[in-house]
Amino acid sequence: MKDFGLDNYVHLEAKQQPTWADLDKLASVREELSKLPPLVFAGEVDTLRDRIAQASRGEAFLLQGGDCAETFVDATADRIRNRIKTVLQMAVVLMYGSSLPVIKMGRMAGQFAKPRSSDFETRDGVTLPAYRGDAVNGYEFTEASRVNDPARLLQAYQTSVSTLNLIRAFTTGGFADLREVHAWNKGFTDNPANKAYESIAGDIDRAMRFMEACGVDSAELRATEFFVSHEGLLFDYERPLTRVDSRTDTPYVTSGHFIWIGERTRQLDGAHVDFLSRVRNPLGVKLGPTTSTDDVLALIDKLDPEREPGRLTLISRMGAEKIRGELPKLIEAVKDSGATPLWITDPMHGNGITTKNGYKSRRFDDVMDEVNGFFEVHKALGTHPGGLHVELTGDDVAECLGGSEHVDESTLEQRYESVCDPRLNHMQSLELAFLVAERLVETRRNGDN
Ligand code: PEP
Ligand code: CO
Repeated sequence: MKDFGLDNYVHLEAKQQPTWADLDKLASVREELSKLPPLVFAGEVDTLRDRIAQASRGEAFLLQGGDCAETFVDATADRIRNRIKTVLQMAVVLMYGSSLPVIKMGRMAGQFAKPRSSDFETRDGVTLPAYRGDAVNGYEFTEASRVNDPARLLQAYQTSVSTLNLIRAFTTGGFADLREVHAWNKGFTDNPANKAYESIAGDIDRAMRFMEACGVDSAELRATEFFVSHEGLLFDYERPLTRVDSRTDTPYVTSGHFIWIGERTRQLDGAHVDFLSRVRNPLGVKLGPTTSTDDVLALIDKLDPEREPGRLTLISRMGAEKIRGELPKLIEAVKDSGATPLWITDPMHGNGITTKNGYKSRRFDDVMDEVNGFFEVHKALGTHPGGLHVELTGDDVAECLGGSEHVDESTLEQRYESVCDPRLNHMQSLELAFLVAERLVETRRNGDN
């Protein structure tokens, strides 16, 4: 068999890997994972690459959303359905606002591993290994739960399989019918707190009725494509699930359609960049506020040497205060280099705060401010603001502050459920979509592209 260099990463520094409790068990888990069926088919991954290429030409918009960290206990039918529902609802609103197809992608069916700033966590004088995601250890703060157990990798695989199965059922089995999704959105705008969005909701309603009057009833209305993505963090999970596709004789990570490299693991000479440079999936890279133009150009050379449309998505996460200052020079340098990656904004990870009562949170207004900054920068440079990457849940949690329901610090005490970063709740997610859509409609009305 051809040598694709997939194991070259073992000679490089791999950051953020757990110290496993039992190496023999790890070896047998890796062996088992390498024999289990792929979660996604290479042909679907290729379709997604084409869709992203479309978006990078300004002909589509990408919406990527889901938990910061998925958990095994929350992989229930209700919670998965609510998350899909939220992404679909946002997508309809964004599709109307942008007049473009929206690529729907979950941070789902594989988002079980987290990079951490420290290997350990101390509470009340007790120090234990940090929680690294359900694929590694348990969130509960006890010695037994925080053991880094390789058997969890198999559970992550199984949970991803059942999550993806449900996603496929929901998005192709009638549940995702555009008319249903629109009806759910009416529930949102009927709420007096969301009166401000009545006008755009009315416009969408008229568009739907018009289509109905025309007798439009195509398969596209009844089902939708939905892709899954996660951070490619753990080599002991991703490597055994990487397979050489027999049609094309190229390796694909088969644990998800789209894999991204996080802000903490994107070192040019590091293991993650090397490993993912060798697989065919569309890739994302997070870019924080300290990213230099040289960093971005070198990452493009490594990950997209052929400058292939759809291969690379750059996910800026600068923070609301920094995006307008830091992003333009990166976009310009990339433009000058001739590369055509998709640019999307992650307005979550640069806007973290700790509340007075001790919660990790984010302000809805900061999130929105970063999104606005992203659109402003692209407008000024004549480039396409290609999409949104958000941490969200379909449930009525209280983790981010603000929004039309005015979530405040005391509400966090009642409904904070995230085991990692704070997510926009269902209402806040829809509100974000409506605000972005309003902005897009406005831009089109003014004729400035
Ligand atoms: C994340 O997406 O949950 C994450 C850890 O992001 P970043 O790598 O941008 O910090
Ligand atoms: Co996060």
